[in-house]
Amino acid sequence: MTTQHSAVATVPASDSGSRTGWWRDAVIYQVYPRSFADANGDGMGDLEGVRDRLPYLRDLGVDAVWLSPFYASPQADAGYDVSDYRLVDPMFGDLADAERLVADAHRLGLRVIVDIVPNHASSEHPWFRQALREGPGSPLRGRFHFRPGKGESGELPPNDWESIFGGPAWTRTVNPDGTPGEWYLHLFAPEQPDFDWDNRAVADEFRSILRMWLDLGVDGFRIDVAHGLVKAAGLPDLGVHDQLRLLGNEVLPFFDQDGVHEIYRDWRRILDEYGTDPRTRRIAVAEAWTPTVLRTARYLRPDELHQAFNFQYLGTAWDAEALREVVGLTLDAMRPVGAPATWVLSNHDVVRHLTRLGSGVDREQDLRRARAATLLMLALPGSAYVYQGEELGLPEVLDLPDAVRQDPAFTRAKGGGSEGGGSEGGEAEGQEGMRDGCRVPLPWSGTEAPYGFGPVAGGPSWLPQPAEWAKLSVEAQTGDRNSTLELYRGALAVRREHPALGGGDSVDWDDAPAGVLAFRRTAADGVFGCTVNTTTETVRIPAPGRLLLASGPVTVAATAGIAGAFGTAGAGEWVDLPGDTTVWWDC
Ligand code: GLC
Repeated sequence: MTTQHSAVATVPASDSGSRTGWWRDAVIYQVYPRSFADANGDGMGDLEGVRDRLPYLRDLGVDAVWLSPFYASPQADAGYDVSDYRLVDPMFGDLADAERLVADAHRLGLRVIVDIVPNHASSEHPWFRQALREGPGSPLRGRFHFRPGKGESGELPPNDWESIFGGPAWTRTVNPDGTPGEWYLHLFAPEQPDFDWDNRAVADEFRSILRMWLDLGVDGFRIDVAHGLVKAAGLPDLGVHDQLRLLGNEVLPFFDQDGVHEIYRDWRRILDEYGTDPRTRRIAVAEAWTPTVLRTARYLRPDELHQAFNFQYLGTAWDAEALREVVGLTLDAMRPVGAPATWVLSNHDVVRHLTRLGSGVDREQDLRRARAATLLMLALPGSAYVYQGEELGLPEVLDLPDAVRQDPAFTRAKGGGSEGGGSEGGEAEGQEGMRDGCRVPLPWSGTEAPYGFGPVAGGPSWLPQPAEWAKLSVEAQTGDRNSTLELYRGALAVRREHPALGGGDSVDWDDAPAGVLAFRRTAADGVFGCTVNTTTETVRIPAPGRLLLASGPVTVAATAGIAGAFGTAGAGEWVDLPGDTTVWWDC
């Protein structure tokens, strides 16, 4: 299989002056509704819980909130199996709660992006249930991928595709008369049948769903599995096993097919119907696992989507050379299409970046590195995604008992299927199929679990929180100038204020010793500098300006003396940049 690099439509140079828009430099905070805040005390987060905490997000300094799915769902994949796209699942509240949440967010100056899951439905979706009831030949079967099996009596799956969660991507049905029937395709769990996007009813239905949520007031969509909707004609075999390995490395017959772009051109027209004022524009961000950032840029051509997650960045090790390369490749790929780069370190599918980038030996050192990684991410031009709890320095919970885990990839792996997966391109190294560890409910306050996640001390939480999280709660960290929460607050405040931070499409690299990154960003009315030491040893470098913010204690030698972690002392002649530390400078 080859990687195709087709030409990318570019933005005319004359257009570059109009590259404004709220999403171009937005910091977007991912709320995982199950685990953010539980207003009704049932142990499961809900929309009222999110609404209650919107002032916290405003004060944190983010621009927008992305909510993972809260739609009606049997929760076979934590809500990424939707049975009714127009309803809120009762466990999260109801439509009136959603409306209130959006209205309150807007009053606070926050935008709201909701997840949309167009690749697959829940097997409890009325279309799928009826398709099963009606049997082979039912027109409703044309909305999914039903196929007869191979072999003498259809006992073999129609092709060799493997599910992202392990095992075959096909499940055999039982006919209404009880005999073994056709098979249906599910790239994820069997409870998530894939839609057939060649079917007009599917496309029409999603147009209508988009409009319903846009009418309710949402500012945009995060498109789940945006790369998966179109399958290669004839559903050809791959001819290899262990297909998970290929995810994100190759164009597969079920991923990143050219046909998906027609769908997003269509969706863009719908979004544009709601206005094109750059301050209020409705946007869409693709969760697209592609082999290269160049392929990702194809989703961001001027008539397609506004942003895509940068999984290449998320998957990059804490290594100066590798980081510099991926930053350069990203900016180079985005510039021709005029789309903002995005940066992300953590989400609900991968091991939290504190644990993923860390050594696992020394928690303090892991935290130092995570904080340094965050300041690097927030210094880069474009938009950044923050996953709930990373602002508290939460680690991955690695020791959840099997009995409480709900990730279907985990169950599939345990059940003796093939290796479990379920993370982008296999980034969740060492913990495949164990995505529950980054989904543990947030600690807000108090000394007893669920630490303010729910209203009552000693009350339930759907996953148990580690006892050490009491000291990581929002309450415990607020006002402690060395806490990770205050670092995020400080960084987001500086990011808003400094003229050379936020949007943009390039950085100027400075020479730096091995293992150190140094770059500048220049605006008409200011120059910003960032230095990052990815090694574990202190490195002495010239101080490029006045220290704005540091991810940890730093010594700046200057006539004025020493600056502390959050100090604002005058320009130094040199700085001793400790290992795993990032410093922001006003140059
Ligand atoms: C996306 C989601 C993930 C989900 C999968 C299937 O990758 O982020 O959580 O399991 O899609 O919907």
